[in-house]
Amino acid sequence: MRGWGRIGRRFEIMKGLILSGGSGTRLRPLTHTSAKQLIPIANKPNLFYAIEDVVNAGVKEIGIVVGHTKKEVMEAVGDGSKWGVKVTYIEQDAPRGIAHAVLISEKFLGSEPFVLYLGDNVLKGGINEFVEEFEKSDASASVMLTKVKDPQRFGVAEIDSKGRIISLEEKPKQPKSDLALVGIYLFRKPIFEAVKRIKPSWRNELEITEAIAYLVSHKHKVTTQIVKGWWKDTGKPEDILEANRLILEGIAPKMEGTVEEGVEIVGRVAIGAGTVVRRGSSIHGPAIIGKNCEIGPNAYVGPFTSVGDNSKLVNVEIENSVLIGDSVIECSKRIRDSLIGRHVHVASADNSVPKCHKLILGEHSVISI
Ligand code: DAU
Repeated sequence: MRGWGRIGRRFEIMKGLILSGGSGTRLRPLTHTSAKQLIPIANKPNLFYAIEDVVNAGVKEIGIVVGHTKKEVMEAVGDGSKWGVKVTYIEQDAPRGIAHAVLISEKFLGSEPFVLYLGDNVLKGGINEFVEEFEKSDASASVMLTKVKDPQRFGVAEIDSKGRIISLEEKPKQPKSDLALVGIYLFRKPIFEAVKRIKPSWRNELEITEAIAYLVSHKHKVTTQIVKGWWKDTGKPEDILEANRLILEGIAPKMEGTVEEGVEIVGRVAIGAGTVVRRGSSIHGPAIIGKNCEIGPNAYVGPFTSVGDNSKLVNVEIENSVLIGDSVIECSKRIRDSLIGRHVHVASADNSVPKCHKLILGEHSVISI
């Protein structure tokens, strides 16, 4: 259905393109074998936040661009019926750039307006307002911008007092402003001409920022909107911990597990089904503990911690951390600011002779001892 479907909305956006390919090098070792977009934030894969935002904006068909981790992305997302949408997978042979992902999705997207959402972005408050503004306009593209401390890491926009784009640059060494391009974009048909015309950048990628700059320089209307709430690109481990903190700030308390006597639970804590919190343990929210976990005896889970399903924590104190799940940590130590992958075992060396740390670490592991 097209046209004036929703009041005041001229062109409804029915299709979305979510990117879940790429290589995830900055998140190794977690991404050696698994997709960075599936790293959980408050126990939910990053990619699911993108899907939810797109679905809540009224999209009915989602194309997901996948790369070498396609199998597990497809397993996690399925056919989209969990969200009441149809998901089509689009294979990208190598991470040749965001604009390349758009280029190979032309057949799926057709000639109607669409939303492009990078699968490693998390945004508070969704994209509905942004989409509605675009639907009312006749712009060829619309970008979301937000102030950042480190613009060199992003696409950067320079705008005038009316919000019109003066310049756009991808990861500039000397940024002309502190306004980063958020990884959520709205496009109409002219973007396909732009992605076909641009050339690969210094990092050998077709850059979406350059495609948008092409639209601007060819007199297409490109509008900007400033993001009001927080936004995170979860490219690095510290970004994941921060996104985790931001999501946990709004977590609703839930108790589906069982708690033994003498356990202290303080603040907003969500505990999943089948989880047991054993004697002498203490959980201080905001925190989330998944399903079928064993917390304790004598464990402390501190604020801003997410513990994934099937984890076991004994004696340990842990805070401001993300445990992806299926891991065992049993030692009388305090762990903080940590990102711990699946199937990890951290044991106590208290009684070892000689006193030492024993490590079996994969490539690109990072530890402080
Ligand atoms: O997050 C916002 C930033 O995203 C913007 O400010 C930049 O202008 C934009 O270029 C992009 O920069 P990144 O360097 O962070 O993009 P990254 O390579 O991390 O890719 C973003 C997502 O898209 C990630 O989930 C992987 C996926 N991707 C990426 C490429 C290059 C693909 O699926 N295929 C690709 O070819």
